[in-house]
Amino acid sequence: MSKPNQTLGEFIIENQTAFKYTSGELSRLLNSIRLAAKVVNHEVNKAGLVDIIGNAGETNIQGEDQQKLDVYANDKFIQTLTKRNIVCGIASEEEDDFIAINSQDENNQNKYVVLIDPLDGSSNIDVNVSVGTIFSIYRRVTPIGTPVKIEDFLQKGSAQVAAGYVVYGTSTMLVYTTGHGVNGFTLNPAIGSYYLSHPDMKFPEDGNIYSVNEGNYSHFPIGIKKYIKYCQEEEGDRPYTSRYIGSLVSDFHRNMIKGGIYMYPKSSKNPNGKLRLLYECNPMAFLAEQANGKASDGYTRIMDIEPSELHERAPFICGSKNMVEKAEEFMRNADSEF
Ligand code: AHG
Ligand code: MN
Ligand code: MN
Repeated sequence: MSKPNQTLGEFIIENQTAFKYTSGELSRLLNSIRLAAKVVNHEVNKAGLVDIIGNAGETNIQGEDQQKLDVYANDKFIQTLTKRNIVCGIASEEEDDFIAINSQDENNQNKYVVLIDPLDGSSNIDVNVSVGTIFSIYRRVTPIGTPVKIEDFLQKGSAQVAAGYVVYGTSTMLVYTTGHGVNGFTLNPAIGSYYLSHPDMKFPEDGNIYSVNEGNYSHFPIGIKKYIKYCQEEEGDRPYTSRYIGSLVSDFHRNMIKGGIYMYPKSSKNPNGKLRLLYECNPMAFLAEQANGKASDGYTRIMDIEPSELHERAPFICGSKNMVEKAEEFMRNADSEF
């Protein structure tokens, strides 16, 4: 399927027929994300040069300060997807409620909704560390040509049609899946094209990297504490290496390439962890499973969780299959939760 020097645009068109609903609508949607990501990339790269860093003075629904680039990225993705009339609805980390697009227009025959974390890892911007964008795509469940409803967004991860991320790192990459494996494209900034650089990405079954914010250790469940001790033990291929960037996208990307596990577990302070189910955990879980990895909340498959709120959080343990299964084993076998 993959050819040398293939661009993302060519790849999307050529693989359109492998997709069961081949109206071209999903291809147009992926193309819009590719375009918006280029614009955001340009702005992210300038973050150290212009006075764009810092709080925009607003607080999002989770009560967190918004960085200016969060707002910028949010606007760019929403504008691109709205102006080109590509989708029927958008939900974003930075918007309290979902956005219905042309909802009065019976001619809006678009089938897809997008959920997005426009800028992930935004606390890393002002220190020149990689950030990302995460997206998740579903077919609407309410009738086409009517305004979208909350149930179009509150779907289980297993219903995702496509998902992916952009990592604005040492190079900018777009990595996505439509349920036929995971492919990674690297942006050539001189030309403005993304080239297929990482065809058919797979998590190694085992790994030796664990990624967790150990500052929260004392609040973690017993099972996670024991698993962290297991990672640090001198035995066989252990101790593992600890690597934590604090940008989910970058931590996930590294672990997928090298083999590793990312954990943002529940804690006695935050019973559902920190990450958002619909636009952080589910898309990453879809990518992980498509790349032979695994994603769990410690007990349950992430993509089997029935969502009840747009901005709900879920504990997230994701990465190389054998590592995630080992962490789940520690969770199952713990005498008590905390
Ligand atoms: P966002 O910037 O979209 O709010 O997401 C930040 C997330 C995630 O990217 C990262 O892994 C995690 O928060 C880091 O949290 P801690 O600083 O608590 O470790
Ligand atoms: Mn995020
Ligand atoms: Mn964000």
